[in-house]
Amino acid sequence: MAEDIAYQFDVESIRKQFPTLSQEVYGKQLVYLDNGATAQKPKTVIDAIERYYEVENANIHRGVHFLSQQATDKYEEARRVIQRYINAPLEEEVLFTTGTTGGINLVAYSYGELLSEGDEIIISAMEHHSNIVPWQMLCERKGCILNVIPMNESGELIMDEYRKLLSSKTKLVAVTHISNTLGTINPVKEIIRLAHDSGAVVLLDGAQSIQHMPVDMQALDCDFYTFSGHKVFGPTGVGVLYGKKELLDRMPPYQGGGDMIEKVTFEKTTYNGLPHKFEAGTPHIAGGICLGEAFRFLETMDLEGIQHYEKELASYAESELLQIEGLRIIGTAAKKTSVVSFVIDGLHPFDIGTLLDKQGIAVRTGHHCTQPIMDFYGIPGTVRASFAFYNTKEEVDALVRAVKRSAEMLR
Ligand code: ALA
Repeated sequence: MAEDIAYQFDVESIRKQFPTLSQEVYGKQLVYLDNGATAQKPKTVIDAIERYYEVENANIHRGVHFLSQQATDKYEEARRVIQRYINAPLEEEVLFTTGTTGGINLVAYSYGELLSEGDEIIISAMEHHSNIVPWQMLCERKGCILNVIPMNESGELIMDEYRKLLSSKTKLVAVTHISNTLGTINPVKEIIRLAHDSGAVVLLDGAQSIQHMPVDMQALDCDFYTFSGHKVFGPTGVGVLYGKKELLDRMPPYQGGGDMIEKVTFEKTTYNGLPHKFEAGTPHIAGGICLGEAFRFLETMDLEGIQHYEKELASYAESELLQIEGLRIIGTAAKKTSVVSFVIDGLHPFDIGTLLDKQGIAVRTGHHCTQPIMDFYGIPGTVRASFAFYNTKEEVDALVRAVKRSAEMLR
């Protein structure tokens, strides 16, 4: 099983490119299983960050001097690398943001300006707070109505209920591609097709999908897709919002400032074209350039293979963890990615996570910014192990040993 697939990747040589992974914590080899929160960075990205601040630092789109032009070229080249990777038709459809949260807030504010009282927005029961709260704020601002697609006990969206929610009043559907807590891979093509049939646009929260599977904007036909740089092996503080040009052109600017303008007078300001209309102020230049570097790294990987390998790791983890008395997996959808959330009867997830940490195992515990999911299952939180392609079967074994030990200590 996992070893056979690991061999295709040569996981050991991949791990060597991620310096963070080789360290010890508390005198124990680090086992990093918190990739859902943030992924480690390959050496090429770390080198690019160092190079940028050592010899390349300059502001972009402004200077006539060499360094400024070079930084501008690199930043815009990074945009094209990302455009190619996600198969966006046009480079101006790729906007740099601060991350997934930034992307969703941009759409909620700006596309939201096109909505009116009584218009309906659909989200799902498994959204991250960042794909709930901006829509609630929009509903408060504009008098729109928020509807929620329910899910079943396995953590799968109930598509019949979704169909019932859709109507001519639905203007926007915002759903996560993959749940950060449950690992569910949602049937987004079907969600998009049905929304389009009703005349609604669709935003996909791609924070947990782009690092695990090929994503193709044209094949998905989503209207907006947003993700964070740091979860896709790039820097924190930078992310991307893809939007269809026709929509972005109709949307008003989100923030005002330098770079997003064409002409400013005290009487009237006209705005720059895409993508700059949505990129006010000096952006995270190093972040954008180095995110491009992260995608260059990913371009060298076998994405279908990654998906298969990570799934094997997670399935192996689930079957081994289920041997532990009182352990329950939260999120048992038929289509899942490499996220394993679990609870153990009578034990608090935080206590388990703390003991795992002391054994060198990094996981996330708590509600994972999805409190409605916790309410649905009636639990305070879960322990979540989230795998990346650089994790190994041996690390799964270390996790399982450490969970067993922690449960014994806490009982
Ligand atoms: N949204 C991130 C997670 O799931 C931070 O951990």
